[in-house]
Amino acid sequence: MTQQINMTSDEDVRARVDALLAEMTSEEKAGQLTQYFYMDFMRDQSGDGGPSQPEMVEAAMARSGVGSLLFLMDAAEINRLQRATIEGNRLGIPALVGFDVIHGFRTIMPVPIAMAASWDPDVIEQGQAVAAREARAVGIHWAFAPMVDIARDPRWGRIIEGAGEDPYLGGAVAAAQVRGFQGGRLGTPERVIAGPKHFAGYGAAQGGRDYDESHISDAELWNVYFPPFRAAIEAGAGNIMSAYMDLNGVPAAGNRWLLNEVLRDALGFDGFVVSDAQAVHNLVTQHFAADLPDAAARALNAGNDMEMTFVDPAFDHLVAAVKAGRVSTETLDAAVRRVLAAKIRLGLFEEPYVDEAYATEVLADPAHRAVAQLAAQRSAVLLRNEGDLLPLAADELSSIAVIGPLADSQRDTLGPWIFNHDLAETVTILDGIKARVGEGVEVRYAAGVRPSFRTFPSMFDMWSGNTPDEPENFDDDAEIAAAAALAQVSDVAIVVAGEWQNMIGESASRSSLELPGRQLELIQAVVATGTPVVLLVMNGRPLDLRWPAENVPAILDVWYPGSQGGHAVAALVFGDDSPAGKLPFTWPRTVGQVPIVYSHTRSHDPDKQGRRYWDEESTPLYPFGHGLGYGAFSLGAPTLSADSIAVGETLTVTVTVTNTSNRSAEEVVQLYLHQRYGTSSRPVRELKGFQRVAVAAGGSETVEFTLGPDELRYWSAATRDWVQDATTYDLGVGTDSTVELDTTFVVTA
Ligand code: NOJ
Repeated sequence: MTQQINMTSDEDVRARVDALLAEMTSEEKAGQLTQYFYMDFMRDQSGDGGPSQPEMVEAAMARSGVGSLLFLMDAAEINRLQRATIEGNRLGIPALVGFDVIHGFRTIMPVPIAMAASWDPDVIEQGQAVAAREARAVGIHWAFAPMVDIARDPRWGRIIEGAGEDPYLGGAVAAAQVRGFQGGRLGTPERVIAGPKHFAGYGAAQGGRDYDESHISDAELWNVYFPPFRAAIEAGAGNIMSAYMDLNGVPAAGNRWLLNEVLRDALGFDGFVVSDAQAVHNLVTQHFAADLPDAAARALNAGNDMEMTFVDPAFDHLVAAVKAGRVSTETLDAAVRRVLAAKIRLGLFEEPYVDEAYATEVLADPAHRAVAQLAAQRSAVLLRNEGDLLPLAADELSSIAVIGPLADSQRDTLGPWIFNHDLAETVTILDGIKARVGEGVEVRYAAGVRPSFRTFPSMFDMWSGNTPDEPENFDDDAEIAAAAALAQVSDVAIVVAGEWQNMIGESASRSSLELPGRQLELIQAVVATGTPVVLLVMNGRPLDLRWPAENVPAILDVWYPGSQGGHAVAALVFGDDSPAGKLPFTWPRTVGQVPIVYSHTRSHDPDKQGRRYWDEESTPLYPFGHGLGYGAFSLGAPTLSADSIAVGETLTVTVTVTNTSNRSAEEVVQLYLHQRYGTSSRPVRELKGFQRVAVAAGGSETVEFTLGPDELRYWSAATRDWVQDATTYDLGVGTDSTVELDTTFVVTA
């Protein structure tokens, strides 16, 4: 099937929207603003004898009451429901179909925090383009992604869905994802609408407790939390999802300042805004709206165009709200216009259905698996490599012990937010290692700790196949001993440890960062054998690795590496490729240090040691931007195009990167900046440029950065506006956030 690029001009879109609007009743308009989950597996759960969830949605379809559907993944089912929507709609308006395509649809990419750790916008874009292609093939038009919430508290489970702590990196990753999902413009063939979320401040949930309130100063909002949204909007994002929680005492979904003055007026967003699931209902829960009609009116007036709901839409009350004058016809029409414009731009009226045979073909495209493997290789971060234990030389080994249940679990290799994955296509780390070393090396496996355990219910349990089985008759002591015994008789032990995939993600916050269960004990028992140990960490948040960081020679963070994770990890462990990922967050020693960010400000320091706790260091276990590789790089002194520029002018910074090793490798060159004085206090350093470069063995490459008003201005709480100060800057270019800032330049008034 060939999809034509939809070249509808802005005037055409406007004319078509006007023509439809002129025909629509208020009920039909409210219908366009309603997005329903469709949960066929709840068909038999009608409870009190009334209609089941899917029956309610079908009834709404029959009365022009559905604008959008979500949580569908099968091409035939989507075609069926699209037909029902169109036939039930008096004007034949198709539904937009949305889904949580977070890190892949059928082919699963590494989790988003891992993709961010690649510091490689190209591979991030490629990954989301694959996800878009697969999703669009089955009839999905819109991804509820990327999640661009800055997250500085690893207790918050959704840190895994974002790009970490930094607004500059976060902006680059957000823009790359939007380009990947959407292509150049809405209507690009085989792409979907990108929906950056959750606007805004969700990542600052108090105590890391998911959905709890955020209190963020205006300066932090403008300087830290909004920039990734700005970048996503500038990249053309067609949708934004508003957030659940109260932001500074007002629900984000009912916050007119946030959704109108900031999002539309200041950030220039002109697409449509969807609420999060049940978030309009929640305006009542949050003691903000009096009842559902009040919630509906205030949500729409605040700037939400579409309500996402399971049943019983609050937006059904919009008709009465318009009659009562609580919502103006202009406001209602403006929201409907945005939704219809997206449908027209996507070409949905011309091509509402998909070719099911073609969908099957697209989902099986081996090129997608190749992108997943590349992305996983790019994402891994080598945290420690004492004595250059890694890479392992497969031809010098005769036996390898692979230890830990995460090494042998397909589901955990994929990470959370997966629904349509294909387990048969998923390569575990154990399988990947076996495939890489071949017959000559004996690879033996021991679980060491129980393969699955649950300490809490997961919101994803309702989807079949998501609930792991509890192991029976598992003797923990004996299994640890057996794993250690296996390590004892092997040339090397590769231990895989971390969190199970259901321990992180939405509604999966934690009060500790320790390795769950008896995994630390297992690692200690294996290390005690004296066999060299490589630790592979599977995680989406920093974990308490204080002991391994001192006692395990090689630690590679592989995150949840996705469908081809096993092959990617084996390629890195055995040196077919060199790791070059970098941490997108500051890795704390312990949960007691949280939050800890590299871009803090400086303050009173009586003992001149920068120490803030008497019982723990104030430094992290690993700094932001940290990551080792198998190459060795030296960076020349930065050359500036000028020592002094005026406010508003731009300078360039050039650095030569030399690979002094005898293997080709990649390095992420990072530029940090510090403003010495000005209208507000400024952070000790901030990332203001980065580039991932491949450098041949013994070769050099030149990297250039630009510093201008975009990099030098900030929002000041003193003036309550953007400022660019005339001041002195310290600058450093290095390979992590601890680089010395030993170059200066001046900005004059
Ligand atoms: C709730 C989550 O907060 C949001 O990120 C997701 O897209 C929706 N549910 C739909 O699943």
